[in-house]
Amino acid sequence: KQTGLTTLDQGFVNTSSTRSAITYIDGDAGILRYRGYPIEDLARNSTYLEVAWLLIYGELPTASELAEFEEKIRRHTLLHEDLKRFFSALPHTAHPMSVLSSAVSALSTYYEDSLDPHNPEMVEMSTIRLLAKLPVIAAYAHKKALGQAFLYPDNSLNFVDNFLKLNFGNLAELYEVNPVLSTALERLLILHEDHEQNASTSTVRLVGSTEANMFASISAGINALYGPLHGGANEAVLSMLAKIRDSGETVQQFVDRVKRKEDGIRLMGFGHRVYKNFDPRARLVKESADEVLADLGVKDPLLDIAKELEQVALADDYFVERKLYPNVDFYTGVIYKAMGFPPRMFTVLFAIGRLPGWIAHWREANDDPATKIGRPQQLYVGPPERRWPEGR
Ligand code: CMC
Repeated sequence: KQTGLTTLDQGFVNTSSTRSAITYIDGDAGILRYRGYPIEDLARNSTYLEVAWLLIYGELPTASELAEFEEKIRRHTLLHEDLKRFFSALPHTAHPMSVLSSAVSALSTYYEDSLDPHNPEMVEMSTIRLLAKLPVIAAYAHKKALGQAFLYPDNSLNFVDNFLKLNFGNLAELYEVNPVLSTALERLLILHEDHEQNASTSTVRLVGSTEANMFASISAGINALYGPLHGGANEAVLSMLAKIRDSGETVQQFVDRVKRKEDGIRLMGFGHRVYKNFDPRARLVKESADEVLADLGVKDPLLDIAKELEQVALADDYFVERKLYPNVDFYTGVIYKAMGFPPRMFTVLFAIGRLPGWIAHWREANDDPATKIGRPQQLYVGPPERRWPEGR
């Protein structure tokens, strides 16, 4: 029924869908805090799992709480052998984001007896299982694309090192984790852990509002993240930089084409719905890009193109007037590439980063008695009532 009372807010530019106590953003001042703690402090001092605890349970863990949490996650890293065979049914050309969302959806079939969102123990179990298994699924999606054997998790390692070994270890060789890579990856994961009501988190909350289980909701979130305007931007940035390098056109010529909106092209890794001054995550990522590449002794011309692109855009009225600045995705791809990840894995890394935020939001909504099923209104613009053609 058309009530005439609904307001149209396309893209939810001006509509709050919920109250939330998890993440605070001031887009004008470039401030991001998880549970009150500035992102800069967390990125420099904390670990992925410590921040995950903070997001999910609301406080920093004590040393013993953190140790117990890490131990529980370690205990659940194995994938059921049948689920490992699930990967063989997919083509080796499959995009790892599709593999990830499908496998997470499939996880719920293994735990059908413990999906009840109203049972706190089951919610806790699903939380641990997702945190433990998503990185393993992600690494297997990578190995599948390479045609290499899946490794078992090495639970003598910490979370990030274990993930690196699952991706880059080889059955035939001894693998040693490079601490520069693991420190940088830990920081990047922390920076991605939450970002309040972005498209994928809102998706997770919306699906969760139907009382669908956590695996189903997170799988939907992964699919929302896949798009190039959201998490897929990190992969898109790298292909944009490579195209500029290969095309022979100058950075200025490329930027001019963006300004003319030629074929609708955008400067990927630029702009943000909320940040209209700078993205605090982008600053930290840029710092890491310089550190990692210097430490690895990698000289990547794509980093030079990225820096020139940033300079040219920031000095141009088109970008200044529209308040377009580099976002978190602008420099991450260059770092992931230096670490050895193929571009198609970049958004998967974002998904692992964002998982604790998705879980925290799913649980916050699930615990809140005020939560109602998400059901937006619409403004109907179709034809009025029509007569069924006689004799048809
Ligand atoms: N390059 C060129 N022009 C742009 C860009 C860009 N990246 N982003 C926005 N604009 C222009 C847009 O054309 C419009 O211009 P005009 O007023 O002349 O029509 C104006 O800026 C406002 O754009 P909008 O589309 O209304 O802005 P939005 O808040 O709806 O979109 C965004 C936000 C992130 C989708 C957009 O900035 C974008 O497409 N960026 C590129 C993709 C990207 O990097 N995404 C990652 C976002 S950060 C990580 C994450 O959340 O996943």
